Formats: sequence, structure tokens, C-alpha cells
Amino acid sequence: MHHFSYSGGHLHCEGVNLETVAAEVGTPCYVYSSATLVRHAQVIADAFRRQSVLIAYSVKANGNLAVLATLAAQGCGADVVSGGELLRARKAGIPASKIVFSGVGKTAAEMGLALEQGIHQFNVESAGELRLLSEVAVRLGREAPIALRVNPDVAAGGHPNISTGKSGDKFGVPWGEAEALYAEAARLPGIRAVGVDVHIGSQIGDLGPMRTAFEKVVALALRLRGQGHDIRRIDVGGGLGIPYKEGDAPAPPSAYAEMIAEVTAGHGFEVILEPGRVIAGNAGVLLATALYEKQAPDRTFLILDAGMNDLIRPALYGAHHDIIPLVEPRPGQAMKTYDVVGPICESTDKFAAARELPEVHGGDRLAFMSAGAYGAVLSSAYNARPLVPEVLVDGDRYEIVRRRPTFEEMTGLERVPEWLTTAA
Ligand code: LLP
Repeated sequence: MHHFSYSGGHLHCEGVNLETVAAEVGTPCYVYSSATLVRHAQVIADAFRRQSVLIAYSVKANGNLAVLATLAAQGCGADVVSGGELLRARKAGIPASKIVFSGVGKTAAEMGLALEQGIHQFNVESAGELRLLSEVAVRLGREAPIALRVNPDVAAGGHPNISTGKSGDKFGVPWGEAEALYAEAARLPGIRAVGVDVHIGSQIGDLGPMRTAFEKVVALALRLRGQGHDIRRIDVGGGLGIPYKEGDAPAPPSAYAEMIAEVTAGHGFEVILEPGRVIAGNAGVLLATALYEKQAPDRTFLILDAGMNDLIRPALYGAHHDIIPLVEPRPGQAMKTYDVVGPICESTDKFAAARELPEVHGGDRLAFMSAGAYGAVLSSAYNARPLVPEVLVDGDRYEIVRRRPTFEEMTGLERVPEWLTTAA
């Protein structure tokens, strides 16, 4: 569900004509819908209303401060994976008590920052991390509340590159070692084990593998309780899929919540969720302008001003994004088949192969749909292109929430050593 639709012949985000935004901000640019973000947060909260739950929005999906502030106002917490994400979440008004810290490579400095802030939970992914966290906590006179992220050896996810719960993946503590590590945690002075954590992948449409993983995790949590550990929380990670194209029918939040209620029933666990894509994915689009059409012997290239540096998902995962014109196609308008590409000097800078679109002309503007998650956050300045700006819409108003940097800003951190500038 989202708030992007045609009205009066033009694609709108809520009450804002996207041609107006494109004309003022220029393309490429991302546009987010507040109403969609709010709705998605509310749908999840509503689905879990009968459970004790912390919705820790996964900042990696879209960490723009305005997006985070929108979700903070809905009562969301945050799942962060770096000191930078932690500071972003705090700056956007998310209380430390609603923040969980995930990730396989936390540094001592990041641990210290999170301990000083007083976050809700560390999701610890290895024995080495557990021991270092204890040391840092003792040094600061604190105790770190932790869950071990376990690897349940369950395959799931929309693409091999976003599956994280198989035994060969780098994520989590190997299943067979978890209980010994909880025993060690109990002996460490700076650690208090409060939960068990799992995250098996992303863009998961079928609840089967999730249920299998969560059942294993709940059984483990109960065994740990039996061993004297005060396990009160189950963190089920994120991963719920979204529709990217017509016909996609991932399990809805209501079914997901129902499944989790069934699996955790009767044990008094606090459930922690780390949803990312399901909140932000369909709340954003990337606007682009068509530059050229180029005829090759066997295909027609449509060359846009947006590139893989702005939206890398198609290049990285072969991901599909619907591409639609900002001017509503007329009934019976001619269709044409294009390879839709960007201006970057890489053959993988291709958004779609053999995509049938209403005929496009130079200067026409297009929208990549479902680009609100893992879009702008994964953008880069490759080919010395400015980082793509971001706009937030709220009803009839909009604001540039990250502007396009100037050339001076883009080069401002660089320095040419004096030995290169002074004559010998
Ligand atoms: N929790 C943890 C520990 C994670 O690693 C992730 C995502 C999430 C939560 C949020 O997952 P979500 O609800 O968004 O599926 N760049 C890829 C997706 C990478 C996901 C990384 N981890 C893509 O564009 O499809």
C-alpha cells in the first residue's frame, strides 16, 4: 500500500505533483511519502497490538533523519548497525531505551557509545564480540543487556545475497555453540543475557522458513531459562517482503504477527521486531529524466540521468523496480521495449532489460517505484556524481530533506599535498 498515484494526468505523491518536485529539485531525486511511512508503522503496530512488542525500525533501510523522525513520532524504536546509525536514531528523537544494536563487527568505540547512551539491547554475533563487550562495559561501570544472534541454519530470502540464516553465512553464532556461549555470558562481569535474537534474511514472502527459525529460537530460549538464564526477549529480526510488481503477494503483517503470536504464546516474552523494507520500501520513489534513446542492432537503450550509483539494487541483486512515467499514459498509447540504463561507465548500470514501457522521449520524467528502502542509503558518488537528494512529502507540502551537494562540498574533504602544488 502506498500514496503514489495519478491525479489529473500526473503522478502525485499524496497531494504533491511529482513534476513540480522534479522541476524544483532536479533529477535524479528520491521522494518519500509521510503518509505511507506512518501507515506502514501503524499497520505493524496494529497487527501486534495484543503482544508485548518493540518495533525497532531497521535504520539501514532508510536512515534519512526526516524519515527517522517520522517513525519516531509513531513510537518506533530503531535497529542500528553502527555508531553512525545510533547517532542518527538519537538525533531524530528515538530514545536509547528503544534501540537495539545489531551487526557482526561492532568496535570497542561503538560499544562504548551505545553503553553510555543506555540502549535497550546488544545483539551479539560472536564469542570475541561478547568478551570485548564485557570488558568495555566493566571499564565504563555498566552492564550490557544482550541477546545472542543465533544462526538457525534455515534458508530464506529473496536472493542469495540477502539470505543470512544458513550455517555458511557470516551472521550469528553457530547453532551448536549457542548454549555454551550463554553459559560463558553468565560468567562475564559486564554482560546480562536478556534475550535470543535471529534474523534469517530479507524480502521473505513465505512465512514457512521464519516459523521454522522462530520455533527453534523459542525452544532454545526455554532451554536457556531451564539452565537458569533470565531470558525475557525474543528478537525476530526483520525480513518481511513487500510487493515490487503486480502479482507479488508476500505474507501481510497480520499473518506475520499471527504466526509470531502462535510461536511465542504463553511464555511472556517481549518480542522485538526489526522491520526495514516493509516500512520504507513502498514509501519512496526515485525520479529520473530520460536523456537519450539509442538504437543497437538487437535492442533499444533508454538512457536515463539516474545511474546505479543512485539505485544499486538492480545491479546488485537483479532486483525489479516498476518504472512508470510521471505523465499518465493515455489509453492506447504506443508501447516500446527498452533496456533501461544509466550514465555510469559500467555494464551493470542497467535498471531493466527488455522492459515494455509507454514510449518515452528525451526529457520525459520517470519514477522508479518501491525505492524507499535500500535506495538512497546505498547510493554513492561514483563517477563524481553528486549524492542523490531526498524529498519528504506530507499532504500538500514537501521539503528537501537532503539537498544535492555542491561540487565544493563534494571535494571539500580532499586535499592535494603541498609537494604536488609547489614547483621543485
Ligand atoms: N535486522 C537485521 C539484523 C538485518 O540485517 C536487516 C537487513 C534487517 C533487520 C532489516 O531487514 P528488512 O526488514 O529490511 O528485510 N540491500 C538489500 C537488503 C539487505 C538487508 C540487510 N539486512 C536489498 O536491497 O534488498
